[in-house]
Amino acid sequence: MHLLVLGANGLLGSNAVQAGLEKGWTVSGTYHSTAPDFDIPLFELDIIDSSTTSEIIEAVDPDWVVNCAAMTDVDGCEEHPDRAHDVNAQAPGEIAAYCNQAECEFLHVSTDYVFDGKSTASYSENDSVNPVQVYGQSKLDGERAVQEVMPEALVTRLSFVYGVHRGTDELAGFPKWVRDQLVADNEVPLFTDQHITPSRAGHTASTLLELIEAGASGTYNVACRSCVSPYEFGAAICDRMGAAKSLLEDGSQSDIERPATRPAHTCLDVTKTEDKLGRRQPTLTADLEAISGWFDSEPKPNDR
Ligand SMILES: NC(=O)c1ccc[n+]([C@@H]2O[C@H](COP(=O)([O-])OP(=O)(O)OC[C@H]3O[C@@H](n4cnc5c(N)ncnc54)[C@H](OP(=O)(O)O)[C@@H]3O)[C@@H](O)[C@H]2O)c1
Repeated sequence: MHLLVLGANGLLGSNAVQAGLEKGWTVSGTYHSTAPDFDIPLFELDIIDSSTTSEIIEAVDPDWVVNCAAMTDVDGCEEHPDRAHDVNAQAPGEIAAYCNQAECEFLHVSTDYVFDGKSTASYSENDSVNPVQVYGQSKLDGERAVQEVMPEALVTRLSFVYGVHRGTDELAGFPKWVRDQLVADNEVPLFTDQHITPSRAGHTASTLLELIEAGASGTYNVACRSCVSPYEFGAAICDRMGAAKSLLEDGSQSDIERPATRPAHTCLDVTKTEDKLGRRQPTLTADLEAISGWFDSEPKPNDR
């Protein structure tokens, strides 16, 4: 199996590279601004540059292209909607078309922000989409562009991605911020009026590859089983660190002004993925346990 990971220096992309290598697969990658520290063939690529994208796919000749590259800055997308459209919507459709030409399979990564978050029930893959900000709309347009040219493509929706970046071996995302605030003895304001099913990048990347091996096609939610608020996520990190929760402060999304609206409740129902793989997705507690070394004062690498 030969994977071409687009966005190999991103949090998820670096874990996809690592997961592929751990399976003994051949892995090549592309990066945008900074090359990751992996001993694999790497190509510089802006995915809106369609001719370079097609040249790389043709030269690498992979079995699967895994697109982890995206404009993920939700407020940046609101301020630069054209760029968001080009990167998150147009480019994925073009990549799917090049995969058709090159006769390779395509896994595209999308988001829980395709939903408006007005339902308090967890969203399944078939629920109605209705993004409430440019980022979510651009990612939904990307899903549709991919599926229009390659109906059998594998599209995975993730939620609140965090974990260990496998190029730098450092904790990244929300838990890093919470950990660093707690270590500095700072108060940590955390929303109680948002709910998500955090996707740990390491387990998520492994799950994507399992879905590939299982022959999955169509849309799959890939997240943990625990539907939590950022406050509850922070409390779980306190438990992991053995830190007092007295530094955690109740917060509301309305406390801060941001260019983009965030949906209130985008927990993902992972039953379809669990049924396809014949196993359960992890709980948040299990995911934090798997990277417990990064919450110690002297980090020590742990299991994925
Ligand atoms: N982060 C979340 O909470 C979250 C939640 C749900 C779904 N997702 C989805 O999960 C996927 C992976 O996200 P992530 O969390 O790993 O984000 P990330 O760490 O920001 O990685 C995204 C990568 O895409 C690259 N990139 C940006 N613009 C590009 C372009 N025009 N051409 C090529 N590469 C480009 C970035 O490179 P540079 O930094 O060099 O620009 C970065 O390495 C994305 O599809 C995202 O939409 C993320």
